[in-house]
Amino acid sequence: MNHEDITIRTARLVLRRMTTDDAAGIFAYASDPVLTRYVIWDTHRDLEDTQAYIGTVLDGYARGEMRDWVVTRGDSGEIMGTCGFVDWNRMNRRAEVGYVIARAQWNRGYATEAVRAAMGFGFARMELERIEAQVMPENGASERVMKKLGMRCEGVLRGRMRARGAQHDVKIYSLLREEYTP
Ligand SMILES: CC(C)(COP(=O)(O)OP(=O)(O)OC[C@H]1O[C@@H](n2cnc3c(N)ncnc32)[C@H](O)[C@@H]1OP(=O)(O)O)[C@@H](O)C(=O)NCCC(=O)NCCS
Repeated sequence: MNHEDITIRTARLVLRRMTTDDAAGIFAYASDPVLTRYVIWDTHRDLEDTQAYIGTVLDGYARGEMRDWVVTRGDSGEIMGTCGFVDWNRMNRRAEVGYVIARAQWNRGYATEAVRAAMGFGFARMELERIEAQVMPENGASERVMKKLGMRCEGVLRGRMRARGAQHDVKIYSLLREEYTP
């Protein structure tokens, strides 16, 4: 994977490599406790939390992993969120996709647009055959994104996710290469 060349452009968005300069823009939404209700990571308390997160992403790039892109508006460059892959299993040609969009921008199709583009990258450039996503059953907006992307629900995995000091059930969704529509 050539990490110098991972920029993706869609109709309204640019997905680009994260840099240390993105801390304030990411903190602006990662510090929102409404946004973090259904994610595995804790609400960022200060810029140091955000810088630590950026550090893990940059370390991942350096190891050849395909971690989060920063999702920005194509016209202004404003940071809208992130999306990217975790648990890339090259041997089995699968990875899990994750995504977050700032609350002020919800319900305008941005997550669906960003994740569709990331999936296209995954099938074309990472040689994935299967992309998975996990969602807490209460997270209706995220489940809707998965359905809009054509992902199929494969069931509930009990007590699979640790968040906020407790185990949570998750629904698992997947899309296979031949099911992908750009
Ligand atoms: C999930 C998330 C990324 C969606 O971002 P978004 O840009 O608003 O997504 P989209 O606009 O592409 O699609 C949202 C869809 O969910 C629907 N929706 C919103 N709230 C909903 C709810 N409570 N229940 C069911 N559907 C809901 C919207 O109507 C829209 O569907 P539509 O296009 O058919 O009208 C955003 O809400 C978010 O960042 N949430 C917090 C982080 C998170 O949960 N990440 C995913 C973890 S699995």
